[in-house]
Amino acid sequence: MRPFTFGAATAPGYGDLLEKIEILRSTLRWATRLEREEIQRLLGQCNALREEVMSLSRRERFAQSSAAPEDLEPLRPAQSPTTGQRRAALLERDFVFEGVFGDNPKLLETLEIAERAAPTDLPVLIRGESGTGKELLAKVVHTNGRRNQGSFVSVNCGAIPENLVESELFGHVKGAFTGAASDRKGKFESANHGTIFLDEIGELPLSGQVKLLRVLQSQEIQRVGSDRPIQIDARIVAATNRDLAAMVKTGQFREDLYYRLSVIEVVVPPLRERRDEIPLLIDFFCDAAAERLGRAPLELSPRLRQFLLDYAFPGNIRELHNLLFRMACLADATADLAHLPEALRALPPTVAPASDAVSDSTASASLSDARKAAGDIAEKRFLEQGLREVNGRAVELARREGMNRSHLQALMKKHGLSAKAFRPK
Ligand SMILES: Nc1ncnc2c1ncn2[C@@H]1O[C@H](COP(=O)(O)OP(=O)(O)OP(=O)(O)O)[C@@H](O)[C@H]1O
Ligand SMILES: [Mg+2]
Repeated sequence: MRPFTFGAATAPGYGDLLEKIEILRSTLRWATRLEREEIQRLLGQCNALREEVMSLSRRERFAQSSAAPEDLEPLRPAQSPTTGQRRAALLERDFVFEGVFGDNPKLLETLEIAERAAPTDLPVLIRGESGTGKELLAKVVHTNGRRNQGSFVSVNCGAIPENLVESELFGHVKGAFTGAASDRKGKFESANHGTIFLDEIGELPLSGQVKLLRVLQSQEIQRVGSDRPIQIDARIVAATNRDLAAMVKTGQFREDLYYRLSVIEVVVPPLRERRDEIPLLIDFFCDAAAERLGRAPLELSPRLRQFLLDYAFPGNIRELHNLLFRMACLADATADLAHLPEALRALPPTVAPASDAVSDSTASASLSDARKAAGDIAEKRFLEQGLREVNGRAVELARREGMNRSHLQALMKKHGLSAKAFRPK
């Protein structure tokens, strides 16, 4: 079989294509009236040209990727930025974020969607487990949006008794019901020209859902007991840790309201899916606790740090935040496992799934996934052992293993390992 070659002999270049396009252009330029048949013929030529351009571009991409240096990932399109570049780009674009974030691709995707949604008027629905940072993200949408001079008004829909939903959201006039001693503004009015954050929207009873839908459609409210409509201009951001689509199917949540609220849907990933962010969050909360409690930043013993890097965090970032504030209050200079709450200290290692443990999902995944997971475990153990032996001197470990320093850094980051944690105290 002849080897497959690229070149002018086997494929047209851009010069040939330009020539064909010119012929087509002049045919059209001088045509006064075109019969159907002629149109069909010209369309055929256009399609053929399109095909040639596509195949030329495919060949170019192939040639580029086969010429790429070996250490570049060949499957990644040449122009797609790394997570580090995406993070830097977000910050360069003056993206305002209240907490801290690193290079985790899932979180970056969430932040990039939030950034794009922020300057629009479209409603945003934020989904995520409890404590993942949904409210923080809602504030990010507000702060990066056009209404950031207005108020951010948060309503916990799960905490309003059913008979008070209307008055809480839309306000009331004096005497509207027993106990309405004076006129009162509702949350929507307070959020006018700002953002209203409807937290735990999945908990809103069906009667409240109907009323909310009406307001979203008309963009006006009426205080309970008044006929006077009040125009409202507020950005809607809602959040839930429930599966609203499933609730729609079972009739617990109105479908029309769901579609109105979820024009843009963002998911905040749980902490166990962005473990590489844990070291950053630890430093952030240790500094925050030091400032709040007027003390020096808390140090963590290596085994406590390891526990935090491996723990499953069912309560997500809020749980990590609370743990570190608790320990900053109870421990002296250095916190250790003994400063963890009783319930966590009592956990057998299998309950706090170490990153070492092959998770159920991996067990049921493909053989290649299982191999990769096992390889990751071995890699992490190897790094931990090595770092212990060199007392946390990563440069020394890199030299010992004949490894490039930045490659070692990248591996340590992947496994959430900090060299500092292996240095003797
Ligand atoms: N990336 C982050 N950096 C720093 N702090 C964060 C980050 N994400 C969340 N937090 C903090 O974690 C805590 C929980 O966040 P938040 O209240 O936004 O979560 P939530 O998803 O609304 O929780 P819930 O479902 O329980 O209401 C807050 O103290 C918040 O400031
Ligand atoms: Mg919340």
